[in-house]
Amino acid sequence: MLFPSLLLRWYKKHGRTLPWRGHPDAYAVWVSEIMLQQTRVETVIPYFERWMNRFPSVRDLAAASEQDVLNLWEGLGYYSRARNLHKAAHLIVDEFDGQLPRSVDALRKLPGIGRYTAAAIASMAFGLDEPTLDGNIRRVYARLFNVDIPADSTEGEKLLWNLAAQNLPKGKAGDYNQALMDLGAAICLPKNPHCDTCPLKKQCKAFQLGLQEARPVLKPKSKIPHHVHAAAVIVAQFAKLRYALLAKRPSRGLLGGLWEFPNGRVTGNPAKALAKAIKSEYGLEVRAGEELGVFQHAYTHFRVTVHAFFAEISEKKNQRNPRNLRTKESLKWVKLSELDDYPMGKTDRQIARKLLTRQKQ
Ligand code: ADE
Repeated sequence: MLFPSLLLRWYKKHGRTLPWRGHPDAYAVWVSEIMLQQTRVETVIPYFERWMNRFPSVRDLAAASEQDVLNLWEGLGYYSRARNLHKAAHLIVDEFDGQLPRSVDALRKLPGIGRYTAAAIASMAFGLDEPTLDGNIRRVYARLFNVDIPADSTEGEKLLWNLAAQNLPKGKAGDYNQALMDLGAAICLPKNPHCDTCPLKKQCKAFQLGLQEARPVLKPKSKIPHHVHAAAVIVAQFAKLRYALLAKRPSRGLLGGLWEFPNGRVTGNPAKALAKAIKSEYGLEVRAGEELGVFQHAYTHFRVTVHAFFAEISEKKNQRNPRNLRTKESLKWVKLSELDDYPMGKTDRQIARKLLTRQKQ
């Protein structure tokens, strides 16, 4: 039997039951595929279920505010995915009467949908004969065909997409693509693959040569940089209520549209550098106080350490009436009791939580 048939037989028996599989609505497949980019299935499942409850259709998503959308996404990371889903929902309502377009070319024109996702949606939701290639599938093919050029090079990618196209069983692309993903997730693991239980071991060239651990070949990784930031936790009380000053990030780029404690990149001693960083980022004069904590986070291309300090505004006019700061576009006084309503990245949410526990004492 050829390997696609063996794989489909294995998938029937061992494929995972997942909430978006067999879902009648292409919208659900699209949402799941976006969530699954760079994120593990187990992490995605509860987010997917909450999302579908809150936004059951493209129209519900288009009608939501960006703040609500980002709030639901909080913790999944790579927030441009949520912003792009939201933007694409508007386009689908305006231009396609609320229905996802049914071709790879039209899907790829939507924000956040690239070659992989377009083909995944087309094959799984519409039954079109489209091959696709994600990290798992790439590893499976690199081993099956013992591909010895870097899988993440232009040449390697081209070769692997061709293999995916040549081996696609017609009429079964949706199951086949997902079978490759499940094989990659359960058996054909990056390290210590379970070749003994693999349905394709007789066909696998790398396994025959004992080279499975050495495939896929990848280009050498450059060392990722480490940035240090200082953040100002500025708390003020007016009319008996306590507020913290938050800043909204620009809507594009890393953590776009999310809220954070005012901060800036520093070198040297973070406590000493805080005032200068806040002045240059926000034009705001502050004095650093006690350190609230040190927080770490690793993004794809760099790592950040954030030193958070309680801080006071030192400008006289703002001290007397801190509400003046509202006039600055990106800064906002937020009631401590409402901090949860403001979507934040992981580090700033940790700062907010720590601040709340400190305020209660
Ligand atoms: N990763 C991305 N899409 C997937 C799917 N449909 N099933 C399992 N893993 C996936």
